[in-house]
Amino acid sequence: MALLYGARTPADLLYTRELERWRGRFDVQIEVTVDAAPPGSWRGHVGVAGSLLPRAEFDAANTAALVCGPEVMMRFAIADLRHRGLGPDQIYLSMERNMRCAIGLCGHCQFGPAFVCKDGPVFRYDRLEPFLGVREF
Ligand code: FES
Repeated sequence: MALLYGARTPADLLYTRELERWRGRFDVQIEVTVDAAPPGSWRGHVGVAGSLLPRAEFDAANTAALVCGPEVMMRFAIADLRHRGLGPDQIYLSMERNMRCAIGLCGHCQFGPAFVCKDGPVFRYDRLEPFLGVREF
């Protein structure tokens, strides 16, 4: 199992105690990055979250990827995961949308034929593939 985690700055990292604890396990690969860090404040990886993907060790045939973050990052992650052999049915996306009613009535969270509030927020990629990357979706 690999956990790839990115934040804007070291101060934005959540669950730092848990990350340190998990780093001690032999069955979990933990990779953390920040987009930017003040000089001298961070000794870890600097770069966007997607830059960690080449470091992840996994057997594509036996892998499911769970992706959460800004949509542009998810699009790059999907492309990298597909390049590394994952099928569209092996990738799960946590979608975010502005919500109002949260019960599937107002349409604010509509994404293609799905409502993020009542059908998600987690979707398998093959269900959203035709709509990701389409402007205004
Ligand atoms: S928030 Fe109203 S339909 Fe989802």
